[in-house]
Amino acid sequence: MYVEIKQSPELSGEVSLYGAKNAVLVIMASLLLTSGKSLLKNVPASSDVLHMITLLESLGAVISFDHETHELWVDTSSVDKWRVHPDIMKKMRASILVMGPLLARFSRADIALPGGCVIGTRPIDFHLKNFSKMGVEIQSGGAYLKTHVRQLSAKDLVLEYPSIGATENLMMAAVCAPGTTRIINAALEPEVLDLITVLQKMGAQIAIEPPATIIIKGEDALKPIEHELVVDRLEAGAFLLAAAITGGTVFLSNANKDHLAVFLLKLEEMGHLVRSGPKGTGILFKATKSPQAVSFKTAPYPGFPTDLQAPMMAIQCLAQGRSVIDETVFENRLVHIRELQKMGAQISVEGSKAMVTGVDELYGASVIASDIRASCALAIAGLAAKGTTIMTGISHWRRGYDHLEKKLASLGASIALSHSLHLTKPLSETKSAQKY
Ligand code: EPZ
Repeated sequence: MYVEIKQSPELSGEVSLYGAKNAVLVIMASLLLTSGKSLLKNVPASSDVLHMITLLESLGAVISFDHETHELWVDTSSVDKWRVHPDIMKKMRASILVMGPLLARFSRADIALPGGCVIGTRPIDFHLKNFSKMGVEIQSGGAYLKTHVRQLSAKDLVLEYPSIGATENLMMAAVCAPGTTRIINAALEPEVLDLITVLQKMGAQIAIEPPATIIIKGEDALKPIEHELVVDRLEAGAFLLAAAITGGTVFLSNANKDHLAVFLLKLEEMGHLVRSGPKGTGILFKATKSPQAVSFKTAPYPGFPTDLQAPMMAIQCLAQGRSVIDETVFENRLVHIRELQKMGAQISVEGSKAMVTGVDELYGASVIASDIRASCALAIAGLAAKGTTIMTGISHWRRGYDHLEKKLASLGASIALSHSLHLTKPLSETKSAQKY
């Protein structure tokens, strides 16, 4: 399987977004805190969601997912296991997010270390250090990290870096720890705030104190919920960047502009037009025909999201001038550069910085997606590249998005999933492409 992308006309039209992948995964894990049937709405059918379904079913949950209505029913009343099989854990790092809920529910959790991925070593020391502070005993035995606690105790937990996963995991344990827990220097991404909304709906008492402290009062029992997910700002970013690189005009009907403030600022600095929709909601975007290169640095929310770094780099490749991109969140998240170079991009790297010099044209090539957001970057570059781009490594594309290619095609993009590789040379017909 691969994604075939051809040079596309200006994208145009309206599209609505699914719920955020990075919200639904942690919210599904949080349902282990309740015993009963919950309903989640606008759930993307991405393979990460399907992995989380498999994980929860392996613990005893009963789940039904309607791919048409994107409604997900999760019944946790029959959950009776606290051990997650290593084969399930290694499929998806977000599996680590069941640790807090299992400790709250069973006072124990046996999980395999999630391991790193291509974008970085991704340790879980912030999670483990603070779970220990809450009284959790942690032993590594064979394939498992065995953890148990007599009684979770409420504490002041300080994060040296506002880690999203650590904030979410500790919060889900703290909602069942008698007393008041404070998570200081917490992550406050829209997906974390959506989890807080869900926990509050379950009956948890949670407040946020500036600058970034989450205060949680422990509760005995939490109830099942019904919830419409926050929309996916990263899917929104993909559509806006696809429109930008093709010179198009799109309307994202249910996008939340406030969740993308710094990213949208950078698009405006390039010369693109960004507005709210007619009713003051959504995002209306109109590309400029002469985009200027901009520089940016990734940072925790509300800074420039690291998950849009690679896709935003793709459009800098065809912008006028030079862009300096500094990836500060993950130590190895520039792997997509060598694939963009195969397409004719001019990019040099110095430590965590990439220097992109805009070129007049990109060329179709065979490229390999190394992670979810790299796949998005290569697809976006392929929409503007001369000829045909063949993207393999599409498990990443499918992990992060629910048939994004179909939605892009509905806006006029020449992109499709293909099963059999029939092209011997995916390069564009033009002679000059040969040299790349
Ligand atoms: C979440 O990962 C997202 N995943 C990632 O999205 C996203 O890139 C990342 O946050 C940053 O925004 C999900 O929500 C499922 P972190 P997470 O803990 O929670 C270091 C995508 O493409 N760190 O905020 O794992 C870590 O190595 C994915 O959708 C420690 O050192 O990210 C990184 O450098 C990719 N020790 C930084 O903190 C720890 O214990 C931020 O990591 C935890 C983290």
